[in-house]
Amino acid sequence: MPTKSTSATRQRLTGAARKAMINAYAPFSHFKVGAAILTAKGHIFTGCNVENSSYGMTNCAERTAIFSAVAKDGPELEIVAVAVVNAQGVPCSPCGACRQVIFEFGPRAVIYYQGDKGPKQSLITELLPEGFRLK
Ligand code: THU
Repeated sequence: MPTKSTSATRQRLTGAARKAMINAYAPFSHFKVGAAILTAKGHIFTGCNVENSSYGMTNCAERTAIFSAVAKDGPELEIVAVAVVNAQGVPCSPCGACRQVIFEFGPRAVIYYQGDKGPKQSLITELLPEGFRLK
């Protein structure tokens, strides 16, 4: 089977992220975020941000999606692509913590997000040069 085009993958992942965003729990920032990841097995997992009264306990949409993928599909997770969307349509790339978590499972992953000048795609290694690895 031929590989799906980048734009088809982007569209599919962005649509999934948008659905997940609806469930965001963001009563403090009012900034709802959704994320979707595509795995090497061809599976899609989604997540939303889940905030907490103790602000630092907040989990971003990207990490929710990744942790959900590990819980469902196991620790051999390989992330091929990640899409991030937010309800306000403003520029939003993954935060530093999420970049490191994406890198752990997808050192070659491509990230689709809203940049300063519109839709953008970057490799995780462009967003996080010299990411940390123990193995
Ligand atoms: N947030 C995400 O879920 N993903 C991002 O890429 C950026 C920030 C969340 C965390 C918090 O709930 C809210 O957005 C405001 O920072």
